[in-house]
This record gives sequence, structure tokens and C-alpha cells, in this order.
Amino acid sequence: MRVATRPIDGQKPGTSGLRKKTKVFMAKGYLENFIQSVFDATGGATGRTYVVGGDGRYFNDRATQTILKMAAANGAKRVMVGRNALLSTPAASHLIRLNRTDGGIILSASHNPGGLDEDFGVKFNTPNGGPAPEAVTEAIFARTKEIRDYYIADDTDLDLSRIGTQQIGGMEVSVIDPVADYAALMETLFDFEAIRAMFAGGFRMRFDAMCAITGPYAREIIETRLGAAPGTVVNGTPLPDFGGMHPDPNPTWAHALMDEMFGPDAPDFGAASDGDGDRNMVVGRGIYVSPSDSLAVLAANAHLAPGYRDGLKGVARSMPTSTAADRVAEALGIGSYETPTGWKFFGNLLDAGRATLCGEESFGAGSDHVREKDGLWAVLLWLNILAERKESVAEIMGGHWQRFGRNYYSRHDYEALPVAVANAVMDGLRAKLGALSGQVVEGMTVGSADDFAYEDPVDGSVSRGQGLRVVFTDGSRLVLRLSGTGTEGATIRLYLERYVPGPDGLDAEVQEALAPVIRAAETLAGIRAATGREGPDVIT
Ligand code: G1P
Ligand code: ZN
Repeated sequence: MRVATRPIDGQKPGTSGLRKKTKVFMAKGYLENFIQSVFDATGGATGRTYVVGGDGRYFNDRATQTILKMAAANGAKRVMVGRNALLSTPAASHLIRLNRTDGGIILSASHNPGGLDEDFGVKFNTPNGGPAPEAVTEAIFARTKEIRDYYIADDTDLDLSRIGTQQIGGMEVSVIDPVADYAALMETLFDFEAIRAMFAGGFRMRFDAMCAITGPYAREIIETRLGAAPGTVVNGTPLPDFGGMHPDPNPTWAHALMDEMFGPDAPDFGAASDGDGDRNMVVGRGIYVSPSDSLAVLAANAHLAPGYRDGLKGVARSMPTSTAADRVAEALGIGSYETPTGWKFFGNLLDAGRATLCGEESFGAGSDHVREKDGLWAVLLWLNILAERKESVAEIMGGHWQRFGRNYYSRHDYEALPVAVANAVMDGLRAKLGALSGQVVEGMTVGSADDFAYEDPVDGSVSRGQGLRVVFTDGSRLVLRLSGTGTEGATIRLYLERYVPGPDGLDAEVQEALAPVIRAAETLAGIRAATGREGPDVIT
């Protein structure tokens, strides 16, 4: 059935797909326009195969029914969909690759809360399993501005709770177990026997799935296959509103896990994942591991896991992520890459075999096994490393800092600001950048300052305006950028870093160690002064 429509404003994909309030997505034609634009901008759906699934948030089920009907009406040949329309983002990426489909549509607003009054999102992934690169998202956006009609089958809803094959019109819909293929992939990468032996020896863990998608994956892999004690996985059932939780695995939102890990009878290892399963937070008994440090430790120890026994080709990190991983890459004599924020920028490096591990400060890490960051993968790699090294997380971190020095690191977020105020802060600092070099701020000399632009070494594409950075001659840095995933007002992210080579000064409190950089940021950018806020809303 052909339905006449009109372009809808603002359907521009951000850092990670199109994200809006759920009610916006539920409005007549909103989802349909975007999905039709995805098909139109990628050469049409005729004869094509796709993977479809999401993190189970409110509207996930109905949006999936709509997408299936649209794919059918657009002539697609086959769609694979997770049972009950569920798929974690990394599992979807794997399925796209494993089945060589023409791409996939992932329904999620990642770590943003879910519910009728919260957030929803749609992301298109290309046949390599990764988020569509900018050229594709721009083509989709351009199409949303011209769209005049969309196609949708007039069928009744499918029963997505039943594994097996069904038909809509001429299109085949295969409902599959969302966990099985992903779990099998993990078994090829990690030494499940060694990890099982560690659990059998009394190793205790807590995994907080935050009522989001990783619950079923973590239960199957960590409890069933690796033998962790029943109850190791908490909040393990995906709920449409994530049980009212904010499924963002960081010390602020995963505070119950943090309390337990710093409590009197803390388990050996703690971890949490986000709404769609691509993020991870890792905590040892009495020690929090920052995502930037986690990437560095994973890079330094990945060879202990069977999937990475031959070593890494290179390590890539987003520009605001701390430079800790660069030091490891240098020691290993492998390539290191600095990309703009957003996983899509890692795709070419992974496809070209230049990078094996990638990571972002925003609780994302992953490897070339899929083309998304992968929360559970990072947790399993940590478990494999712990099983091999037979040391505690604190011992591993201490040893790492002694060897490489420590990059104290923190991100300060100022959320839901009036857009004009946030832009004024950015414009103010941007205007100063050219004259900063050589200036002394809070006792530190500015070595360089710029608005980060990235030239992709594989396809030569250039992405400008990716964050304002001020680098001091002692290796300290501050970076300022606007969030591209929020759905309300603007969010300024201030990234702070200070390097201490050791052997002394490696055990300071993070915010104290960063105090001069925090003061320098206020002197240069004046965020508190301009926003009237007393401090950041979230510190990670
Ligand atoms: C945030 C993170 C970024 C991550 C993205 C998707 O984007 O900062 O690293 O790739 O979420 O998970 P931002 O809101 O900063 O644009
Ligand atoms: Zn996510």
C-alpha cells in the first residue's frame, strides 16, 4: 500500500542514529518517513535482506511490526528478527555479518531512559555490521526532506514470540533466538574453560543488566555457560521502561553496583551494561576502572585470550578518550588512531585491518569481531584476563600504572542547557583557540589548541568540528564538545585529562589530581559562569 506523506523536520541522525522522544516517534508517519528514507537512500529494499531488532524499550515491539510491514511492501526478500523483537546492538551487528545481509535496523536510544515519556531511536547499520557512515546518514537525512510517500503492507501483526519462519506478502520473516549466535561467537574468542575454572574456584561476580537487553545474554553466558553462581546477574529481565532505571552504566547511574563493590563483602568483579548492550562499566573490589583505562588494560592483555593470541593490529580511540591506550600501542609497536566521537568512525579502520581494538571514554569498547562496541565482550575479555593472570583488578591496575604511568581522567557533563547558551560557550572558546598556544593557564603552558578535524586514513573523508581541544605541554588536556545524542536542549561535555608518569603520585583521588585542569577549563571556557550552574550534572 502506498501512503502519501510530507517531509518532517529534524530527522537528522546524530552521533548514533535518529533519537527523539518516544511520542515523537509514535506520531503519525514519523517512523514510516524515516524508514522509507533509509530504504530509498540505500538503493531501495527490493530483493534485500535485513536484520531487525531492538533493546526492548517502550514502542520497540510496535515499531518492529511497522518496519517488517514496510520492508515487505518495499520488496525485501527476508528479514531476520530476534524473538519478541529483541536484539542487543552487538548481537545485531554480528547477525548482519554472519548472514551477509544488506544491513540492519536497530531500535534503541542506547543508554537513554525508555518509556512513553522517555526516548526512542532508530539506527541503520550497513552490510559490514557497523553504524552507517556519515555519507549514508547524510543521504538518509536528505531523503527525509524530499519524501512524498511510503510503502507499508496491509497485513496483521506477526507473532514474534514464536521462533521459526513466517511470511508477509512475498517476504520471509525468520524469528530467531537473539542469544544463540552471539554466545557461540563469544566461545570462539575466549577461554571459557579457564573462566569456568575461576568461577568454580570461588570467584564471585555481580553483573547489573539494569533491566535492559543484556540480561538474557549475561544469564546464558555468565551463569549457564561459565557457571557463575545463580543470581550473579541482577536486573536481568528487559523491561519497556527499564524498571524506571537509567540504563547507563556509570558510577552515577549504576550506583547500586558501585555501593556493593565498595562495600564490606564485595565480590571480586562487577560489571554493568546499558540499554542496548554495547556499553560496559567494569569495577573491581574497591576499585573503579575508568573506561579509558579499561581500553588500555584490554590492549595490554588481550593476547591472553585465544581470539587475540596473535596480537593486535592496532588500537583506536575517540579523540576525547584518554591517551592511556596510545602508550600501550607504542610499547607494543602497533598502530594507534584518534577518531571523532561515535563508533561509526572505527568501521573503516576495523574493515581495513588497521585496528583490532577500539574504545571510547563513554563506556564503550570493542574489537573487530563485530562493528559495534560490545559491553558483554569487554566483560568477558576482562574475565579471561583475570583468569589468566590470577590477580585482582586492583593489582592489575596498579601494575599497569607502574608500567605505563597513569592518565587521570574525568568527564563533566552539563545537561539540558538552553541551546543558545551552550553554543555561546563553544563559540567563545573556539574564538580564543588561535591565540592560546604559549599562554600559561593555571601554571600549565598551552602547547596546542584546535577544533578537531579527522581525515579518515582509509577513504580520505574529512569530518570537521569534532571537538575543541586544548593540550598543555605537560600532557594535560581539556576537550569541549556538544553531545550529539541528547533529546532535550544541549549538553556540554568537558573532558579532562592529566598524565602522571609515576612511580609516585599514582594513587591520588581523580578529581583532586585533575583540579588544575578543571580550573583551567573554567578560566578558558567559563561554562559555570555562562550557564549559571554550580557544577556538572554528571561526573564520570
Ligand atoms: C555519546 C558518547 C559517544 C558514544 C555515543 C553513542 O555521544 O559520548 O562516545 O559513541 O554516545 O553511544 P554524544 O552524546 O557525546 O554525542
Ligand atoms: Zn548503547
